[in-house]
Amino acid sequence: MSRYFTEENSAETVISRLESCPDPRFRQVMESAVRHLHAFVKEVEPSIEEWRQAIDFLTATGQMCDDRRQEWILLSDTLGVSMLLETINHRARDGRTEATVLGPFHVAGVGVEEMGFDICRDGKGEPCVVSGRVADAGGRPIEGAVLDVWQTNGDGRYDVQQPDEQPENNMRGKFVTGADGRYWFRTTKPVSYPVPTDGPVGRMLDATGRHARRPAHIHFIVTAEGFEPVVTHIFVRGDPWIDSDAVFGVKESLIVPFELEEDAGRAREAGVHAPFWTAEFDFALVETSTG
Ligand SMILES: [Fe+2]
Repeated sequence: MSRYFTEENSAETVISRLESCPDPRFRQVMESAVRHLHAFVKEVEPSIEEWRQAIDFLTATGQMCDDRRQEWILLSDTLGVSMLLETINHRARDGRTEATVLGPFHVAGVGVEEMGFDICRDGKGEPCVVSGRVADAGGRPIEGAVLDVWQTNGDGRYDVQQPDEQPENNMRGKFVTGADGRYWFRTTKPVSYPVPTDGPVGRMLDATGRHARRPAHIHFIVTAEGFEPVVTHIFVRGDPWIDSDAVFGVKESLIVPFELEEDAGRAREAGVHAPFWTAEFDFALVETSTG
């Protein structure tokens, strides 16, 4: 092999400069990145002008980011990389609830509410009662499990996207299970919404003929001492976007039927007005591995 850079040996020439990298994992990552990037360029053979456009796109992606907006995560999400990473790092095992993307709208430090609390603080949307149970892989209820819940309001926007329009912590709440592992809370039926399209990722979606919609969902992080946390959503069965989520987050086991309940007595029991929606979902956690 020539010591000098040629088209044929381009990747190997660059990789040979990594020999003195002291961190073996970092070296592996860099070698792979160089190998795949060179293969990509050889396959596509971009013109100089096309490469400049690519650099401009990546520059704009970085410039779109601030403490409220993370365009790089959106790029990773819309290219399916976030979901791949999530799947690799949380391979389903022993009947544990499947994971999906965290997304950019989680807020830490939201307060714990009484079971049954209504997280809808702006009065928009259709009332809905969500309930179920948190159990271990053997079906034994977990006491003291914390469910951290968030979703958009009836207009399909998160509170952090509309800080001047929505009450603080609108559509967010935490709930702690008792000895029976059961939980329930009041909310509104989730609605579909678009990921932000006013930046470079929106232009990429548009240019590739893709839509930006996410099927309606409710986010959950379920934690319990001694158990692996689960970061997931539940999705509404029958949602028109269920098969084409812009960020590839849907898993079959997370699709839940939302049923319309007309009974006034049941509505009174739940503290809502009929008709209202109901959804049930049980979470299964596995114990933290000690090995
Ligand atoms: Fe979401």
